[in-house]
Amino acid sequence: MSSAFEAIVWQDGKIILLDQTKIPTSETYNSYDEVADFIGAIQNLVVRGAPALGVAGAYGVVLAIDEASRKGLSAKELEHNLDLLRDARPTAVNLAWAVEQIRKHLPAGRDAVLAAAHQLAREDKESSTSMGNIGADWLINKLGSKPLTLLTHCNTGSLATTGTGTALGVIKELHKRGNVKEVYADETRPLLQGSRLTAWELMKSDIPYRIEPDGAAAMAILSGRIDAALIGADRIAKNGDSANKIGSLGVALACHAAGIPFLVVAPESTVDRSIATGEEIHIEIRGDEELTHFKGVQVAPIGAKTFNPAFDVTPAKYISAVITEKQSYEIEKGETL
Ligand code: MRU
Repeated sequence: MSSAFEAIVWQDGKIILLDQTKIPTSETYNSYDEVADFIGAIQNLVVRGAPALGVAGAYGVVLAIDEASRKGLSAKELEHNLDLLRDARPTAVNLAWAVEQIRKHLPAGRDAVLAAAHQLAREDKESSTSMGNIGADWLINKLGSKPLTLLTHCNTGSLATTGTGTALGVIKELHKRGNVKEVYADETRPLLQGSRLTAWELMKSDIPYRIEPDGAAAMAILSGRIDAALIGADRIAKNGDSANKIGSLGVALACHAAGIPFLVVAPESTVDRSIATGEEIHIEIRGDEELTHFKGVQVAPIGAKTFNPAFDVTPAKYISAVITEKQSYEIEKGETL
């Protein structure tokens, strides 16, 4: 990884997380050895981003085994803890996928489970590099080799994966090739993954950027400032419909209206081939406080009702291509996954 930090590390029987709720003002690492605390960290977005949640789930299985043997829990109690871990956040399929993949190794013993978790983390890291190359080739092929102004939404970089990232990994690769003029990072209301995390990563990678409110994205795109938009995904259906951070759909619609490429970049582990379309994706609805309060200060009338979906689903018809570590799926030409 080019940046000098890691979002998740397994160390001495504990999971160490770079606390993403504190970035950019502080780089704090928290350590976890209890499943309940670790699930709390996942739900509070100390670790977040679909591929990172997959790696967290994988190491979480080892954590659960170690806790069970330390506390003398029954096999049934262990399985229950693994179910809770799997379901900690519902939209990013990587979490449930990784927990299910890794728990299959339980009969082979704890060390085999740990080895499988390390392997999953290694593969996640390698997939970033591959997505970076395939996505950069795709955009250069489409738009020519010139400095591009790109727009991205939410955080999809080294904080969201164990490598360079998905959409942000493509941007980093384009920057290496001299093909980035500037990145517009949507601030990503309400938890500010764009202004806090993406901007921090772009700064660390020396990539020119500016942040904009989510509501400015359509104007930036329709006024001709943007050459292409790239986002990640939390779950992609067989037909290409893609769930990602709330606000992604608006970016896609604006790109469609402007006739510029809109790319979804995600590892194969984010593709859920068990669902035909995005209608089957369970969208996480988060609490009122994220909207009624800002940093603990009330900013809405007491009792205000909210609608706070963490993700939206962009229909395949608004997506130019889905880039994975294996290939580009040419969704606009009718290809499916
Ligand atoms: O709620 P978050 O921060 O976990 O949401 C993350 C996103 O929506 C990302 O864009 C997605 O997981 C892709 S990360 C490579």
